[in-house]
Amino acid sequence: MFTSEDQTIYPIAAALSADGSLTIAGSDPQKLARDFGTPLYLYDGQTVRSNIQTLQQLLKDHYPSEGAVAYASKAYFSQRFAAKLAQQQDIEVDVVSLAELKVALKAGFSPKQIHLHGNNKSAEEIRTAIDLNIHALVIDSLDELAFVEQIAAEKNKRVRIWLRITPDIRVATHPHIETSAASSKFGLHVITGEAEQVIRAALASPYFELTGLHCHLGSQLYDPIPYAIAIERLYTLASECGYEPQEISPGGGWGVRYTKNDPLTDPLDWIRTISQTIQQQCERTGFQLPKIVLEPGRWLAARAGVAIYQIGSQKRMPDGTRILAVDGGMSDNPRHALYQAAYSAVILNKPNAKNLVPTTVVGKFCESGDVLIAQIDLPEAERGDLLLIPASGAYQLSMASNYNLAPRPVVLWLEPDGQFELLQRRENPEENSWWC
Ligand SMILES: Cc1ncc(COP(=O)(O)O)c(C=O)c1O
Repeated sequence: MFTSEDQTIYPIAAALSADGSLTIAGSDPQKLARDFGTPLYLYDGQTVRSNIQTLQQLLKDHYPSEGAVAYASKAYFSQRFAAKLAQQQDIEVDVVSLAELKVALKAGFSPKQIHLHGNNKSAEEIRTAIDLNIHALVIDSLDELAFVEQIAAEKNKRVRIWLRITPDIRVATHPHIETSAASSKFGLHVITGEAEQVIRAALASPYFELTGLHCHLGSQLYDPIPYAIAIERLYTLASECGYEPQEISPGGGWGVRYTKNDPLTDPLDWIRTISQTIQQQCERTGFQLPKIVLEPGRWLAARAGVAIYQIGSQKRMPDGTRILAVDGGMSDNPRHALYQAAYSAVILNKPNAKNLVPTTVVGKFCESGDVLIAQIDLPEAERGDLLLIPASGAYQLSMASNYNLAPRPVVLWLEPDGQFELLQRRENPEENSWWC
């Protein structure tokens, strides 16, 4: 069950009530599951706010110039969630599609707070970003630089851009969430010379204001050293081109804990390393200190969210493992199917059960890869029991699908004293395109 060891996996407002059952911000997740049905996702507002403020404060305390935190909306975004974020002071947002851009605007973000990423932006996405004069359109290739320049010339507008540089370094994470290696589809690779070529071309064009350099190394990283190596490469490249960046964005990627086997890391190490490296590089090159723009997604959202499922059928495998099937699965959480992600879990209505059984938690979808947790010890369970999986706030719902025509789950936002609001309604299949 939830113990003090698990504190950093569960939302900040998670607590145990007198009978040992879990509460979040004063709400009873079992009651919410009964009232709203399952699968049910809950976001703890206090965790989201506290995570944003922690990073903002660390930047203030450890970097002697300007710094900003931009939420990577791909981790989880919906209109009402975006509106909660937009209320936070000084937050910026990273979007990668027209829909994310529109949601950010409608939620209250100003264009000056928005960065548009993506390795294959459409003409419509580029035109919209130019018309809105967003904070930065992030150029991903030489080809894209020419495409954006053509659109800017048609509009006779100057575009504020960053360049996404790929420093060609490996990082310790699953290959599917590694984005800085020589084989990455993202960004302007340093080793091919494309990065240098694009810096020079951007500086020479009347249609671009090159305000910054960006890199994103990968996700779920626990080691700050690759950030230092990458920043050093950005500065070497910039100084070789005679270019002084006003903004440096070392991306997001800082890791969170999903299970007790994951390291307990402190974002202080991440931010201190970035800050110190930038200061050293500015001393070396004689450049002014730039504004730092961090782009965390997972670190801001993962811990805030929990997923709740109802247990259905169970069976024993030939090796003795018990299979527990729940009423969600890869359609709301494809992370195990995509990169063998590990999770912890509790059976909500059996807080004090002692007899643990080696278990695999699977979903209800027609794929053998439809696994939520490959290996976990859980108590004896019965049909109708409620399984809660913590650290479910990032890259689950945002990658959810309608596989087997499953409706996407209902999502609530929790505030102290048992208050909650609807963030997302459970999808109504009859309103979906496959129904007409
Ligand atoms: C450009 C960029 N910035 C930020 C992020 C956020 O990464 P994370 O959620 O690991 O912090 C990503 C994730 O893919 C990204 O591609």
